[in-house]
Amino acid sequence: MKPSILVARAIFPEVIERLRQHFDVEDNPNDDAFSPAQLRERLKDKDGLFATMSERVDPQLLAACPRLKAVANMAVGYNNIDVDAATGAGVMVTNTPDVLNETTADFGWALLMAAARRITESEHWLRAGQWQKWRYDSFVGADLHGSTLGVIGMGRIGQAIARRSTGFGMQVIYHNRSRLAPELEAGANNARYVGREELLRQADHVVLVMPYSPALHHTIGEAEIALMKPTAILVNIARGGIVDDAALIRALRERRIAGAGLDVYENEPAFNPDFLSLSNVVLTPHIASASIATRLAMANCAADNLIAALTQQEPPNLLNP
Ligand code: DGY
Repeated sequence: MKPSILVARAIFPEVIERLRQHFDVEDNPNDDAFSPAQLRERLKDKDGLFATMSERVDPQLLAACPRLKAVANMAVGYNNIDVDAATGAGVMVTNTPDVLNETTADFGWALLMAAARRITESEHWLRAGQWQKWRYDSFVGADLHGSTLGVIGMGRIGQAIARRSTGFGMQVIYHNRSRLAPELEAGANNARYVGREELLRQADHVVLVMPYSPALHHTIGEAEIALMKPTAILVNIARGGIVDDAALIRALRERRIAGAGLDVYENEPAFNPDFLSLSNVVLTPHIASASIATRLAMANCAADNLIAALTQQEPPNLLNP
């Protein structure tokens, strides 16, 4: 008998077909959003879960699913999964690192450029029919070339962002849990390791790329934003809970920083509606990894992990210690 799995959200049909070669698959072609109770009900007799960021794997779910052996998350971030509890329950957990590094870094730059050069703000104005004449100060923004980029979280995506800055003639400073090896710093446009406060003070623009953990909840709040330059842009492509949205909204409203580019929010898909009244923030719906090729690679990577985990092989991206 084949192991049985639940694919919690709609994904590429060709990946479902691949999974069907190995498993009895219950999929979700209508992409219904399962409540925690519905997820427990559907998963209670399954061996594996193909999860996305929308599914929360917590002790309650694990207790309700005694057959569960593996959870393959189709994301590099896995703050939706209690890995310690899964380990305690004997459940393997995997993620999809590497395949999204370059696409996500591209998008970090897109948000930075859009916010610094006021692209979405000026497009809304144009579409609203307000363009009557040229003015010397219409939508003047901040230069990126020659400026100092601050990257907080210098993992693989952070390094990919830093590498791209060479074309703009920028300096890179970074902060990370630990300092990178000299060859990695050299490869990241000679990035210079600094303390977090120093980074916030010195950077012309700040990009957040660190993984979320409860210890980092609201780690960028009122005090940290107050250290930033009034001309600075803050970009968050990490996780919503890292930034205190209320503090950011106050700073943007009072123009204590120039702008922000946000792809992630604390309670997605909900977000603080006060952002909508601000013209100096670019808002996107958690799409940094959303190129066709990368989303397909992520789905196949999660499938590879699940196939390995449920066929007695070591999954390539096992997260359990
Ligand atoms: C990830 O992989 O963690 C991204 O945020 C999802 O696209």
